Amino acid sequence: MDKDTLWNKIKKMSELSTLPEVYTKIAELIDDPRTSAATLASVISRDQVLTAKLLRMASSPFYRASAEKITSITFAVAILGFNATKNLVLSASLFDLFHDFEKDFQAVVRSVWEHSIACAVGSKIIAQYIRYKQPEEMFVIGLLHDIGKIVELQIMPKEFREIINLTSDNGLLIKDAEEQILGYTHSYVGKLLGKHWNLSPQIINSVEFHHSPEEANEFQIPVSIVHIADVFSHTLELGEVNSKIPILNNKSCELLELKVSMIEPILRELKREWKDAVAFLFPVK
Ligand SMILES: [Fe+2]
Ligand SMILES: [Fe+2]
Repeated sequence: MDKDTLWNKIKKMSELSTLPEVYTKIAELIDDPRTSAATLASVISRDQVLTAKLLRMASSPFYRASAEKITSITFAVAILGFNATKNLVLSASLFDLFHDFEKDFQAVVRSVWEHSIACAVGSKIIAQYIRYKQPEEMFVIGLLHDIGKIVELQIMPKEFREIINLTSDNGLLIKDAEEQILGYTHSYVGKLLGKHWNLSPQIINSVEFHHSPEEANEFQIPVSIVHIADVFSHTLELGEVNSKIPILNNKSCELLELKVSMIEPILRELKREWKDAVAFLFPVK
């Protein structure tokens, strides 16, 4: 599928094109300086299912937005802030946006999401270790980093099958097999979806460069965080198993001043929190 067809398909895909109304509304409200926490909370509260999920998620051990249990949306907005609330809404609704995959792809889809959840939890943990100001933004970036694979699974199943075969036959990384078959990778596809969804430049940039942080001009820190979390998630085989482990970019570690002594506890925490996060975000139906 060439790049123009891909972009047109992404724009047309009804399943992909609708982010929850609440998210779009929140994004609009945030841009308006007159918006108060109460207004934002009332918009979210109209969606009861989302409200319940959001409250449980904000208080869950893996998201750990606050030391206190968050019991109301107004309280959540007040302590999280507008942007973090928006990210939480996106994280809580992402999994419901994609469906109708080919039957024999269900396991692959699950493994991509499980890996993405690992990368989300890992990104958040690294952000906390290096005291990066937006751990919840890192969580959503981790969730989204491989979203291009989900899009490929949905709109080009035939090509994705060839990609998987090529990785298993030749021991290639998915991105290298994609490059051979499609001429672009899931980071590119993810970037297009991010643009279509009007996500923040920081999110789009981090998705685009998670395999090659050295190519990112802007947003070096979030790109490096998600890159390292991705490698850690592969190393621990959380989600996608038997896949080739991408090479860790040393410059990213230097940039974040990630010390060797931090790696062991980060990996331990990631392994522990991943299970809870998967059970919560992507339960077996
Ligand atoms: Fe990736
Ligand atoms: Fe990944």
